[in-house]
Amino acid sequence: TPGIRPLIAGNWKMNGTSDSLGELQAIAAGFADASGNEADGLICVPATLLDRAAKAMAGSPVASGGQDCHAKESGAHTGDISAAMLKDCGASHVIVGHSERRADHGESDAVVAAKAKAAWQAGLVAVICIGETREERVSGKTLSVLSTQIAGSVPAEATAANTVVAYEPVWAIGTGLIPTLPDVEEAHAHIRAELKRLIGAEADGVRILYGGSMKPDNAGELLSINNVDGGLIGGASLKAKDFLAIANAVK
Ligand code: G3P
Repeated sequence: TPGIRPLIAGNWKMNGTSDSLGELQAIAAGFADASGNEADGLICVPATLLDRAAKAMAGSPVASGGQDCHAKESGAHTGDISAAMLKDCGASHVIVGHSERRADHGESDAVVAAKAKAAWQAGLVAVICIGETREERVSGKTLSVLSTQIAGSVPAEATAANTVVAYEPVWAIGTGLIPTLPDVEEAHAHIRAELKRLIGAEADGVRILYGGSMKPDNAGELLSINNVDGGLIGGASLKAKDFLAIANAVK
């Protein structure tokens, strides 16, 4: 999208220990060259790695992020992690509403919206995820599902600076399947239009990422689609070689 600097983001999910810090260092060291300085980078690591990830990538164009936060600031929530804690470990972003959280932890749109607000409160950028299931796609409900998810999970105070939206068709995650390029274009245009209804002209600057089986060999075509302002990459973000090859496709 004209005027929007792409964001190439990785989501490590429940992967990574101390052994993986070398990959992060390689990503940080190679990103500027790979992307020709034409994109920002982000890797969302497990909370256990965040502090070390932020240190390993400090001073590079690749930021560190969390994968979820609690909606409350603090208190009796055993095992949960607040947005301020992520920030304290060096995060600048946090993913909220990933479909795996929605499915595994029953997170509703309202919960996701509350988490986005908690992220902002702590000074983090919220990466809000939406996307249809295979069943919804097949029954022609994709665009209406996206409308409902945007209305429910993106608070009206969203700005281009505090929010990134990630479109991840659930059936494309980890499957090697991706929608047709016209289907991706249609979904992203629809998301932009819905954001405009919600937050007006501010929507013109919001990054809308595509996620779901983005790999080095399909990144070029996906990233050149209108209103695709970067990617949210799972499996192919775990190895520096693959992630940098995707960053290279931005050029
Ligand atoms: O958040 C990114 C993710 O869900 C996509 O995963 O492995 O299909 O790239 P993957």
